Amino acid sequence: MGVRRPAIKGTWEMKVRDFGTFDDPLLLCGGPYSNLQALQALAEIADGNPCVCTGDVVAYGAAPSETIALMRTLGWPVVAGNCERQIAEAAPDCGCGFGIEGTCDRLAQSWYPYALSGCDDEARAWMADLPDIGTFQQGSRRYAVIHGGATTINRYLWPSSAAEDLQSEIEAIEAHIGKIDGVVAGHSGIAFQRRINGRHWINAGAVGLPPHDGRPETRYAILDNGEVVFHRLHYDHSAAKTEMERVGLTQGYHIALSTGVWPSEDILPPELTR
Ligand SMILES: [Fe+2]
Repeated sequence: MGVRRPAIKGTWEMKVRDFGTFDDPLLLCGGPYSNLQALQALAEIADGNPCVCTGDVVAYGAAPSETIALMRTLGWPVVAGNCERQIAEAAPDCGCGFGIEGTCDRLAQSWYPYALSGCDDEARAWMADLPDIGTFQQGSRRYAVIHGGATTINRYLWPSSAAEDLQSEIEAIEAHIGKIDGVVAGHSGIAFQRRINGRHWINAGAVGLPPHDGRPETRYAILDNGEVVFHRLHYDHSAAKTEMERVGLTQGYHIALSTGVWPSEDILPPELTR
């Protein structure tokens, strides 16, 4: 598959997809990260209902092909993460935006080739088809779904990011799809919500890795009538860790599944380090 466009930086024609209308309370999630056990647990909670996903279906974990297969079976609305964009094009790195030679970058040199090798042509074609921006309606409110940012797919935005940074992304989204009431984003792996000039910025967090808070539970969210509530996802993290050990992914993320502490704080702003 040829390079369709710059995968990470630069301007490109955004692929936008209407995910539809969800008037019931709606599950939101991000970052399954090849963690099959976590996605299975969330699927049980969903019980046949949709869950909007902000991408990075595949990353650090032991089961890339199985996680993609489950996601496709579930049929949940998904936008492309940087991992999907990179793997779709068989790019040489994850495109997470880690600093070169940092710990995260070094760790990615282990898990990314494993994730890439776990994705066959059909899985990569599915990834290539994912939109950059999803939209959905809930009641009178219109939401956009993105991965990191609309200006840059791998932009890290944190609970502490300047309001101007979030506002600039909202403006970029609205330049593509018109007025919105809220944004559902991911990539940074930390669940949070902010109100920015009347718009609701929601980061649904990640289901595949805990949010560096010293506990093994990961995160998902439920959106209802303009309000979002974050939940802890209890799942069989021991089994997920064992699988990572079995396939040789023992560079640190496997330990994070049980300790809840990331193997590197390279990407975190100082206020979020432990
Ligand atoms: Fe990402």
